[in-house]
Amino acid sequence: MKLAIIGSGNVGKALAGNAVRAGHAVTVAASHPENAQAAAQASGAQAAGSNAEAVGAADVVILAMPSAAASSVVSELGSALEGKVVVDVTNRVNSADPGSMLDGDSVTEQLQVLVPRAKFVKAFNTIFASVMANPTGDGQPVDTFLAGDDAEARATVAELAKSMGFRPIDAGGLPIARVLEGMALLNILLQISNRWPWQSSWKLAGPTGGV
Ligand SMILES: NC(=O)c1ccc[n+]([C@@H]2O[C@H](COP(=O)([O-])OP(=O)(O)OC[C@H]3O[C@@H](n4cnc5c(N)ncnc54)[C@H](OP(=O)(O)O)[C@@H]3O)[C@@H](O)[C@H]2O)c1
Repeated sequence: MKLAIIGSGNVGKALAGNAVRAGHAVTVAASHPENAQAAAQASGAQAAGSNAEAVGAADVVILAMPSAAASSVVSELGSALEGKVVVDVTNRVNSADPGSMLDGDSVTEQLQVLVPRAKFVKAFNTIFASVMANPTGDGQPVDTFLAGDDAEARATVAELAKSMGFRPIDAGGLPIARVLEGMALLNILLQISNRWPWQSSWKLAGPTGGV
């Protein structure tokens, strides 16, 4: 697949390196183009000079920037995202007032409203960047839960995630993105309160085949 990753920080670098190894054509962007260049050099991806340039030829766009920047990035890209699968990896974090992060729509739902004809899927947000490059835990592929209203888009992201070594779990429609943001927040708060090493991730235990 042709991937554009907007954001070249911890998450952007980890996903870019993994996706390049999985054989995908990856272009990365950042707010400072020199940071995209450095991430591209480290991961084997291409660097773009702007978000619009990165998105141009992509089948799948991955949002890997702070949630506070996501709405302006998505608004600016606007029609360039129409028809594309847009993976939202962002999380909101406020450890002093976690309830404020769980009240109301998810980031992904808010972004979907901005470009209704883009196919938004929440994914990878429950997994720390330190795990994304090599997504195994306890000898098993790490689970990534997918939420979005377009079933075909969820299937595309599931295929992408599987190729990168994750176990994709289709969690259903876009409102479930609220749950996935809550799961990520809980995992973050647990690391902070217990001084854990930012390596744990959510695993759905038990059989998942049909009966
Ligand atoms: N870190 C994790 O373990 C983790 C796990 C799951 C989800 N997340 C979520 O993933 C997102 C990224 O996290 P991170 O840890 O990778 O953050 P980070 O290391 O701070 O990197 C953020 C990246 O976003 C870029 N950026 C900021 N504004 C931008 C804009 N307007 N256009 C293009 N790029 C822009 C920055 O560019 P410059 O470098 O040029 O400033 C930087 O490359 C956050 O929403 C976070 O909540 C993080």
